[in-house]
Amino acid sequence: MFITKNKKLPENFLWGASTSAYQVEGANLTHGKGPSVQDVKTVPEGTSELDVCADFYHHYKEDIALMAEMGFKTFRFSIAWTRILPKGSGEINQEGIDFYSDVIDECLKYNIEPLVTMFHFDLPYELEKKGAWTRRESIDEFVNFAKILFENYGDRVKYWLTINEQNVLTLSGDVIGTCNLEGVSNKYKKLYQDNHHMLLAQAKVMKLCHEMIPGAKIGPAPNISLVYPASCKPKDILAAQNFNAIRNWLYLDMAVWGRYNNLVWKFLEEHDAIPDIEEGDMDIMAQGHPDFIGFNYYSTATVEWDEANTEAASGDQQGGSCEPGVYKSFSNPNLLRSEFGWEIDPDGFRATVREMYSRYHLPMLVTENGLGAYDKLTEDGKIHDDYRIDYLRKHIEQIKLAVSEGVDMMGYCPWSAIDLISTHEGIVKRYGFIYVNRDEFDLKDMARYKKDSFYWYKKVIETNGEDLS
Ligand code: BG6
Repeated sequence: MFITKNKKLPENFLWGASTSAYQVEGANLTHGKGPSVQDVKTVPEGTSELDVCADFYHHYKEDIALMAEMGFKTFRFSIAWTRILPKGSGEINQEGIDFYSDVIDECLKYNIEPLVTMFHFDLPYELEKKGAWTRRESIDEFVNFAKILFENYGDRVKYWLTINEQNVLTLSGDVIGTCNLEGVSNKYKKLYQDNHHMLLAQAKVMKLCHEMIPGAKIGPAPNISLVYPASCKPKDILAAQNFNAIRNWLYLDMAVWGRYNNLVWKFLEEHDAIPDIEEGDMDIMAQGHPDFIGFNYYSTATVEWDEANTEAASGDQQGGSCEPGVYKSFSNPNLLRSEFGWEIDPDGFRATVREMYSRYHLPMLVTENGLGAYDKLTEDGKIHDDYRIDYLRKHIEQIKLAVSEGVDMMGYCPWSAIDLISTHEGIVKRYGFIYVNRDEFDLKDMARYKKDSFYWYKKVIETNGEDLS
């Protein structure tokens, strides 16, 4: 539809950007913090360890001041579970509690709403050793962690996100360093049992949040990419529906409606992977009501029917996956790609938003969106990242159109506020508005520089999205 009658973005639109603890903080095994799975994994060859990252732990005041200068209304960051509970449960690390308390206060000093993710890919290693999410106990461990967060920060934090990209944890855990399949005979059974426990934990935490913090808002944060069929062949449509169910709707149907998607259920049945469900589980699921849908969007996905029963492949967050006889990844010839091979699809962003809104009718908050690129610091201290501005502009345009079409959009938090370490491609894959002067292995002076996108985003926020030039 051509749109000529545009609506403005709401006055209280939450402009901001995102980070995650293990990718930005550094100080990963100091100040009382215990190891997470990210701290013990073997990092991909040629990429940095996660011990320093952007050193946000020591630079947070300077970094939040820069976010305030851009005019942020919100800042999405995650809390490292092992900074609060070094072993995942048991003894609390007061220094960790104080650190996030200071970060929250620093945000509030500038009227920036803290938007807190409780769990972003960094399961405590001590819990991993015990069997991670496969154990029933993991549900209470997460609820206990959440309770500590609500007790300590509930007076100041109004917006909460439960689990970052639970679908990526299930589908691409081997790429992001969260999946341990040692000794596992049926990977589907394990992954979807873990998933069932995470879904229960999430539902309980959403309920707890509403009980403990009146007025607080909480939602999930999956990575949602609408799946296109590779052609108009009916079988390709079926394949796209399969992957849409497995990749997207399982997570949101469960978070919002508390029920398993029937296509996913069938897929699990075929793999002898129906999770063990205890009496009362589905009641718990039905009681966890999100106030909004937080979601990360980088690109759409395209699949075709898998005639040849191709071998299964997990791919990374945005592509390359295949399930024999279910769907097969297809490279979309209509889309450009980033320097790191991810497809770029702003129209698909709106298509994804439309589809989600028509299914769930909840307010929506973009919790990630952005372009990873090889930025260059010039001799005069500039970073000319016009390619990033172009990417963000085109996506914000689509948000405005979606709002004109009647979608309730709460805000936009691209990835990332500041350069940080990518999940598997190092710091050279930069996403930030703020450049951090370090290389993959040379830490240099860690100085912060404002990229061209910094000044552009400041103007976008100042005009509430009216001036995108
Ligand atoms: C999302 C994650 O999958 O994408 C982030 O929530 C991640 O943690 C971001 O950094 C970009 O992915 P990558 O692999 O380029 O770091």
